[in-house]
Amino acid sequence: MRNKINIGLIGFGTIGSGVAKFLIEERGLLLKRTGMDFNLLLVCDKDLSSKRGVNISKSMLTKDASRVINNPDIDIVVELIGGIHPAKEIVMKDLFRGKHVVTANKLLLASEGLEIFQKAKDSNREIYFEASVAGGIPIIKAIREGMVADRFSSIMGILNGTSNYILSSMSSEGSDFKAALKEAQLKGYAEKDPSLDIKGLDSSHKLAILSLLAFGKRVDLKDIYVDGIEDISNFDIQYAKELGYVIKLLAIAKRYGSELEVRVHPTLLPSEYLLSSVSGVYNAIFIEADLVGKQLFYGQGAGKLPTASAVISDIVDIGHKIACGKNSAKSVISGNTEIKKLRKMDDVVTRYYAHFSAIDKPGVLANIADLLGRHHISIASVVQKERSSAHIVPIVMLTHEAREKDMQAALSQINKLPAIKKKSVIIRLEK
Ligand SMILES: NC(=O)c1ccc[n+]([C@@H]2O[C@H](COP(=O)([O-])OP(=O)(O)OC[C@H]3O[C@@H](n4cnc5c(N)ncnc54)[C@H](OP(=O)(O)O)[C@@H]3O)[C@@H](O)[C@H]2O)c1
Repeated sequence: MRNKINIGLIGFGTIGSGVAKFLIEERGLLLKRTGMDFNLLLVCDKDLSSKRGVNISKSMLTKDASRVINNPDIDIVVELIGGIHPAKEIVMKDLFRGKHVVTANKLLLASEGLEIFQKAKDSNREIYFEASVAGGIPIIKAIREGMVADRFSSIMGILNGTSNYILSSMSSEGSDFKAALKEAQLKGYAEKDPSLDIKGLDSSHKLAILSLLAFGKRVDLKDIYVDGIEDISNFDIQYAKELGYVIKLLAIAKRYGSELEVRVHPTLLPSEYLLSSVSGVYNAIFIEADLVGKQLFYGQGAGKLPTASAVISDIVDIGHKIACGKNSAKSVISGNTEIKKLRKMDDVVTRYYAHFSAIDKPGVLANIADLLGRHHISIASVVQKERSSAHIVPIVMLTHEAREKDMQAALSQINKLPAIKKKSVIIRLEK
C-alpha cells in the first residue's frame, strides 16, 4: 500500500495559499490522522512576487502550469485559479495525463462540467469539488455519500454569502441596498465588481452543481431562472418583517415527479424557519429527501480557511483511494436520472408578496384586485399603509398560490393603470 501522495497546486491566491500553508505546516498532523504523507511538490501561479504568508521554498514555485501537469510524480493536481479558461484546459490535460483533480471552481463545473466529468470517467480518474458549493460545508459529500440511498424532492439554499450579508444588514441596520453593498465591500465580503454575487449568478452556478448531484440532471445555466437582489428595497424588507417574513436570496431546486424546477431569486421565508435565521456571510442548505427527511446544513460558505478545509478533505479522500489502489472513480454523471424535463418558469406555482404604489383615491384597490382575480390570483391578505409621499400609498398584498405566467400577465396590466405610479414589486414566497 502506497502512503506518499504528491500534490501539485495551480493557483496560489486566497484559497491556494490557505491550502499550501496547511499542507506544509500541518503535514505531520495529516500523517497522524490519515496514516498518509501528503507532500506538496510544486506550486504554480502567474505572480510569484506577492507575499502569500506561506513559508515555501523557491524551488517549489513555478509560473509554468505545464511543469505541474507534466510532472509524472504528481498524483493530484489542485486547480485554484478560477474562471473557465485556462482552468478547463488545465483540468482536462491533468485527467488526460492520469492525474486526479481537486477544484473549487464552480463556474467551470457549472458551465463545462459534463465534458470534464466525462473525461474523468473515461480516464478513470477522480475529480473532487467539495469547495465549489458552500465553501466549508461538506454538502457535496453529504449528497454523494451520506444520502446515496435517497431520492431528493427539494433543495433550498442560501449559497451566496455576499448577498446574504447585504440582505441581513439591510434588515438589521435599516440601510438601503447601495449602502449595504458599500459596507460589504469595505469589510471585504463583496468584490469590487460584485455582479456575479448580487445578480444571483454565483448561486445559479452552485445550484447547477447541486442539481446534477441530487437529481442526476445536467442543467444548463441558461435554463435556470435568475433574479438578483439589486431591486430589493428596505421598504420591502421592513414590510416583510412586519408580516412575519424575512427576504433571502434562495437557490431552489424542486422535483415534481419527472419534472424539475430550478430558480434563484429573492424569496420571502417565514421568520420562524431555520433558514430565515441564517444571517451575515453564512450559507445554509435545506434538503428534503425520501429516506432521510428534512436536513439543514449550515456554515461558512467562503473564505480562505473554510474553503481550504474542503479542498484538503478532497485531497485526503482521493489519497485514500490511491493508497488502496482503487482506480474506480465514481462518476458524477451516471446518466441515470428520473428527471425528464425542466419546468418552465411560466409554469412555476408559488405564493407572492406584491407591493403596489398607487394614488390614494377610491377604487384603486378594487381595480388591482379585479385584475388579479381575472388572472386566477386570489389575495390572502392586504395591508394599506398611510400615505408616504404626495398622495402615493403603498399597498402590500400576499397572494395564495398562483402561476408565474398569470402573475406576470396581471402585473403588466396593473402597471398600466393610471393610478399606479411606480413599477410594482413582486417577491416570491416559500412556505
Ligand atoms: N475565495 C473564496 O472564498 C472561494 C470560496 C469557494 C470557492 N472559491 C473558488 O476557488 C478558486 C480560487 O479562488 P481564489 O479566491 O483563491 O482566487 P484568487 O485569490 O484570485 O487566486 C487565484 C490565483 O490564481 C492565479 N492565476 C490565475 N490564472 C492563472 C494561470 N493561468 N496560471 C497560474 N496562476 C493563475 C491568480 O493570479 P493573478 O491574481 O495574477 O491573476 C491568483 O493568484 C475559484 O475557482 C473560486 O471560485 C473561492
